[in-house]
Amino acid sequence: MSAQHPRRVVVGNHKGGAGKTAYTVNTAAAVASFGRRVLVVDLDPQANASRRLGFRWDPAEPVPTIAEAIKADARGVAADAIYPCGWEQDIAERIDLIPARFDLENRISEAGVVGAVWRLRKALEDVDDGYDVVLLDCPPSLGHLTQLALAAGHVAVCTVEPEYDSVEGAVRFRDFIAERAADVGNPGLPLIGYVVSRVRGNIGAHAYQLDGLPELFGDRVWTPYVPERAPVKDAGDAAIPLRALGRSNASEMAFLFEELAKRLLAELGRPVTAVA
Ligand SMILES: Nc1ncnc2c1ncn2[C@@H]1O[C@H](COP(=O)(O)OP(=O)(O)OP(=O)(O)O)[C@@H](O)[C@H]1O
Ligand SMILES: [Mg+2]
Repeated sequence: MSAQHPRRVVVGNHKGGAGKTAYTVNTAAAVASFGRRVLVVDLDPQANASRRLGFRWDPAEPVPTIAEAIKADARGVAADAIYPCGWEQDIAERIDLIPARFDLENRISEAGVVGAVWRLRKALEDVDDGYDVVLLDCPPSLGHLTQLALAAGHVAVCTVEPEYDSVEGAVRFRDFIAERAADVGNPGLPLIGYVVSRVRGNIGAHAYQLDGLPELFGDRVWTPYVPERAPVKDAGDAAIPLRALGRSNASEMAFLFEELAKRLLAELGRPVTAVA
């Protein structure tokens, strides 16, 4: 496997609650279900992805997280902050995590230090080559933490709720990448897809926003759309994979994320031909 193969996926939207972390965690499960290896890098001080993947940072037994890896400013240092996914299911064997903790907030004030924006790229160097997909879960911001991801990423994916403010957040994420990726040393970073999240079919405003998405984002609007369904929230809250809920509507949602993951893997040049 080439160290150059595109694998790092920046998951973003300027707006909060757009389904970034739900997409990240469920895509990790889907990719692992295909027999592929996936690394989740949590770049949000909220640490939602870390918790939903079964990781809890314990101040009584402090371990390095992405906050320490970025602070260290050294090549390959992220290797010291990789942990296995905490889920009990077999797919967890193929999911690793670089977790976040609240201290990540303190990295933001380091943005003015020379070269700070390249610290994540440096930390991941020679560390994530063996993964098929590396998902970088961003906070709802276009500030330093997201810029670290944009400097390190190979492609970007935007999750978007069919709500006015979420669509505007997606447009700002798109435009920020187009205008600023070069400024973080990553010109031409492609925004390969828009994942439409938390769709409520009975809301007129959602139907209206859905109609407008192709005009804004063209054929990069991925299908299927992700509807708002209780199992996505329940599995996230319980920090277990969707299929572990053992409900048919949960399996339907897992299947839907698998379909989206096939599109992602195809875009990364690693199509799924047979499920392992
Ligand atoms: N398809 C869905 N159906 C039901 N609930 C969902 C769905 N997607 C996300 N949620 C829930 O909505 C909330 C926000 O989703 P999520 O945390 O994925 O958004 P986010 O974009 O990561 O938010 P933030 O910007 O705060 O990081 C969470 O409680 C999550 O469990
Ligand atoms: Mg999130």
